[in-house]
Amino acid sequence: MKKITIAEMAKYNGQTIKLGAWVANKRSSGKIAFLQLRDGSGFVQGVVVKAEAGEEIFAKAKALTQETSLYVTGQVKEDERSAFGYELAITDIEVIHEATDFPITPKEHGTEFLMDNRHLWLRSRKQHAIMKIRNEIIRATYEFFNDNGFVKVDPPILTGSSPEGTSELFATKYFDEDAYLSQSGQLYMEAAAMALGKVFSFGPTFRAEKSKTRRHLIEFWMIEPEMAFVEHAESLEVQEQYVSHIVQSVLKNCQIELERLGRDTSKLEKIKAPFPRVTYDDAIKWLNENGFDDIKWGEDFGAPHETALAESYDMPIFITHYPIGIKPFYMQPHPERDDVVLCADMIAPEGYGEIIGGSERIHDYELMKKRIQEHNLDETAYEWYLDLSKYGAVPHSGFGLGLERTVAWISGAEHVRESIPFPRLLNRLYP
Ligand code: 4AD
Ligand code: MG
Repeated sequence: MKKITIAEMAKYNGQTIKLGAWVANKRSSGKIAFLQLRDGSGFVQGVVVKAEAGEEIFAKAKALTQETSLYVTGQVKEDERSAFGYELAITDIEVIHEATDFPITPKEHGTEFLMDNRHLWLRSRKQHAIMKIRNEIIRATYEFFNDNGFVKVDPPILTGSSPEGTSELFATKYFDEDAYLSQSGQLYMEAAAMALGKVFSFGPTFRAEKSKTRRHLIEFWMIEPEMAFVEHAESLEVQEQYVSHIVQSVLKNCQIELERLGRDTSKLEKIKAPFPRVTYDDAIKWLNENGFDDIKWGEDFGAPHETALAESYDMPIFITHYPIGIKPFYMQPHPERDDVVLCADMIAPEGYGEIIGGSERIHDYELMKKRIQEHNLDETAYEWYLDLSKYGAVPHSGFGLGLERTVAWISGAEHVRESIPFPRLLNRLYP
């Protein structure tokens, strides 16, 4: 008997196969039992008909409890009623381990309870679908950058300097020295771009942010490309191509998952480059004219501002040229204005907020040194970084895409805590 996975069932239509699976749910009458089975690769309905499987197997099926692990044998049958397209006509059941009182039943549970049981909650249909979409975004990311001549480079996690300001750092000891958990690999990626041209990283980043919103995690994963000889406007083109690619890849390869989540895919189908560009100046003007008189030029947007700005488009939008005072030290100033920098944030539609932050970087040694001083950063920690503008400095640009916000947007999850397997939140380090 061939042992296969649910994902492989289509290739075995009409054949008798064996599956290792868990019981996700069960429903039965006097003559027939329906087992909702899952094996990690997918979900399928198993049908046990008393008259066909016999008294003993039918009695076994009726006694099965949620999350019991088992081997089932049966015939693969086409089933037009299910999104998956197949079901299993079960003829044998071999219980591996009987689970009793699984805490997450098919009824509704509160968020805190589900989060306390995150290690078990991950088994649910919805969480399974979100994790599969996360995986597809990661796969499509490697595909996009590899196909476009980028080299994957891994920046360190333990660092001595901070790219995004010092207020949100997790400090730790590195033997006798002070060290920080990386909040962005950017500065190292800039060094790598000077060695390898076009590079990208994918790794965890840490921010001790006291924010308790549906967009903030303490530990999140970032994709950070960096490109030598690439200026601000060219970087935006890479960003819109990349985001279009991941959305279209999910639409193509995660149809079952998007349907299971009830995601409105017509909104995702529209996501194709180019994306609209709006200057910060125009964004402020628009907000002030549309009922947001709480925000003035020079201030950063809050979530309601970002949501309102994105709502008038059915695309992600770039907000460009932010005031120099609200952005990090390394951003290249506008050539004709000293009050704004060559940067852009990409704001996702449907209220998911900023998914990308990026800019052209300063490559003038004196200016970079001045900016480091103005930001009161420890110059000795940035000595190596200043070397980049000392030896063959070139215009270069890069950006960081927050994976969890992107997963939340594409899968339609209401909170970023559902788009990472084990979220680290303000009050949560467990499980
Ligand atoms: O805008 P940020 O802070 O940019 C940087 O860190 C740059 N150094 C990146 C670069 O140019 N290489 O963060 C980038 C993205 C944000 O747009 C957002 O999607 C995500 O990272 N992000 C968070 N996601 C979840 N929780 C948080 N606390 C996040 N902070 C930022
Ligand atoms: Mg940002």
